[in-house]
Amino acid sequence: MKAIKLLVCFCLLLAGTLASQTVTRIAFGSCISQNNPQEVWHTVDSFKPDVFVFLGDNLYGDTEDMALLRQKYELLFSKDPLQKFLAHTKTLAVWDDHDYGVNDGGKEYPKKEESKNIFLEFFKEPANSERRKHPGIYHSVVMGEPGKRVQFILLDTRTFRDPLCRVTTDEDCYGEYGPCDDKNKTMLGAEQWKWLEQTLLVPAEIRIVCTSTQFLVDFNGWEAWANLPHERQRFIDLIKKTKAEGLFFISGDVHYSELSKMNIPGQYPLYDATSSGMTHGHSCAGENKYRIYGAYMKPNFGLIDITWKGKDTEVQLRIVDDKGKLKIEHLIPLKELMF
Ligand SMILES: [Fe+2]
Repeated sequence: MKAIKLLVCFCLLLAGTLASQTVTRIAFGSCISQNNPQEVWHTVDSFKPDVFVFLGDNLYGDTEDMALLRQKYELLFSKDPLQKFLAHTKTLAVWDDHDYGVNDGGKEYPKKEESKNIFLEFFKEPANSERRKHPGIYHSVVMGEPGKRVQFILLDTRTFRDPLCRVTTDEDCYGEYGPCDDKNKTMLGAEQWKWLEQTLLVPAEIRIVCTSTQFLVDFNGWEAWANLPHERQRFIDLIKKTKAEGLFFISGDVHYSELSKMNIPGQYPLYDATSSGMTHGHSCAGENKYRIYGAYMKPNFGLIDITWKGKDTEVQLRIVDDKGKLKIEHLIPLKELMF
């Protein structure tokens, strides 16, 4: 009995420590090939982030064979630089299409439950986590004490997403998707939307919405929230309805980095900091009328530094390359993200 009481005390202490941990530096990244060198993790480690957020395409699974998917996770997680980093850094994760299991995939992928279990196993989701009790991987975490709370909103943009609408074009660097008019098509699905509304009402000073595909990119033919414009507008309207302040997006997927900003009448501006990829880049970037910095095309990751000063709190967004060299930098006074 004494041992059980000690264990309970220890668990409460641990939970309290996490809840009271002040977050001042968050790192994030996406698109990690398990077949490439992983030296980038030494650089991420040198910045000593309090938390690292995996934004999807955390490896290239692309299979319905769950034994093969597991092998690919094992290969990535056995790499020395990543193992050393994970041993002492708190991590959060969402998935995108390739780690979900199929290129550009949505709700039609038949192995979503099995793939989810492998994802949660490798990212060490506790056995009693709420995340295991509903379909999909959406989840939220608040870290820090009142006055210094950071809420991480981890979206699932794959499990519930309807098939996208296709276009044909000969333009260079243009994808194969067009914006869908059909307002019945969903990105998040009914249950995740309900959860999101409740989540945006949870008290926090800073809210970081972690979405695998870009939220603010203008339509450019690739996968993004712009494929389902009514779903993107629904999110924008929900921010206003819930009066959720201090909110910005981070995203991945596209194999380049950029910072996007959307000015919205009657609402504070929205930012989307995209970092992609960690082990490989891309040769061209799609058009984006909301882009204010970038695109940076070589391997990179993102950093968010929070200087807590009450109502004068500042959020510094940075993109650095795999050697730690600064590529994009933008300072946001938290006041700017308020109604
Ligand atoms: Fe992707």
